[in-house]
Amino acid sequence: MNSTKAPIRQAIAELPFSKIRAVSRLGMAMPDVIPLWFGEGDVPTPPFIVDAAKASLDRGHTFYETNKGVPDLVEELARYQTRLYRREIGRERLTVNASGMNALIIAMQAIVDPGTNVVVVNPVWPNCRETVKIMGGEVRDVTLDAKDGRFHLDLDKLFDATDAKTRAVFINSPGNLTGWMMPAEQQRDVLDFCRKRGIWIISDEVYARIVYDRQAAPSFLEFAEPDDAVIVVNSFSKAWTMTGWRLGWLTAPVGLSDTFEKLNEFNISGPTSFVQRAGSVAIRDGEPFVASLIARYAQARDMVVQRLGAMKRVRLYRPEAAFYAFFEVEGMSDSLTYCQQLLTTAKVGLAPGAAFGLGGEGKIRLCFAATLPKLAQALDRLEPVLDR
Ligand SMILES: Cc1ncc(COP(=O)(O)O)c(C=O)c1O
Repeated sequence: MNSTKAPIRQAIAELPFSKIRAVSRLGMAMPDVIPLWFGEGDVPTPPFIVDAAKASLDRGHTFYETNKGVPDLVEELARYQTRLYRREIGRERLTVNASGMNALIIAMQAIVDPGTNVVVVNPVWPNCRETVKIMGGEVRDVTLDAKDGRFHLDLDKLFDATDAKTRAVFINSPGNLTGWMMPAEQQRDVLDFCRKRGIWIISDEVYARIVYDRQAAPSFLEFAEPDDAVIVVNSFSKAWTMTGWRLGWLTAPVGLSDTFEKLNEFNISGPTSFVQRAGSVAIRDGEPFVASLIARYAQARDMVVQRLGAMKRVRLYRPEAAFYAFFEVEGMSDSLTYCQQLLTTAKVGLAPGAAFGLGGEGKIRLCFAATLPKLAQALDRLEPVLDR
């Protein structure tokens, strides 16, 4: 609450506090709670990345650097994406950011004017929607439909939600918290639609590598032309377990290079020097680590789907990708209160679906990026509550 007489912007005053934090704040003060509320695992950043940061500090990388990102990292990212998506994605299209979150807000700063709108596919990580509001834009929610335990996007609904004031369509695939993966054919249809109408696509692909039946999720980068109005947001947080390092990147049309250079200057004046050197090594040498992480998450997913899915009061959506189990609990309507109660009754910390926009209420998110014994213990504790 602003207790001064001096006003702050209304759009900022109206921003809600995170409902996930409303659970975690409570849970952190309680002993012996198993926390599965946030979107991160308990695997520390691997030593080869940590050592690269230390070596960089020892070499004296403690000064300002260029705004677009240090050349080494930009070069590695260009090679990585070109390899992954079997298509030349030049370094001139890349900007390194201080996290995926930072890339998201910068993308909105470049695109959203007050009075314009962004159509957002829901339910989705709340921060994605709030960035639009911070810029004074209107969020237009379009919900995924659930059928046979899976999520589907009705493209007609998405297209119908756009109008002359729509600046962008925002899609997060693989989705936090649905695990939904947008099929490549749908991505092509959305690109066709947006091309004709001069609408941006902001594609949040921070879970691109958290997939279980392929190397990477379908990406707009596989077919968008270098001058298409597509911005792809990415992050080191999930696939390289670097949440605390705050490093991400975005891939934009060639012509926006200067725009993002300016925005990096005025937001962060360039990402952290030695963190970028560590990021460069993560990309260059990280594939075996990413593969081992996915193998672990796959086991965790199998266990959670099998055990949680068998509990009598649970209706689980099968997570195609990412590391979240998203489920309905029979008889529950207020997910925030329910998650707060679960802290006492089960001593497990989960995220309330209500935090994730339209289509989230009535459901709960469990992050399964944890060790198997910890997950097994959490499921043991949830069983008496959810299986009766
Ligand atoms: C969908 C989505 N986008 C972006 C981010 C931001 O990631 P970070 O800021 O850690 O790079 C997250 C983090 O949880 C996320 O779930």
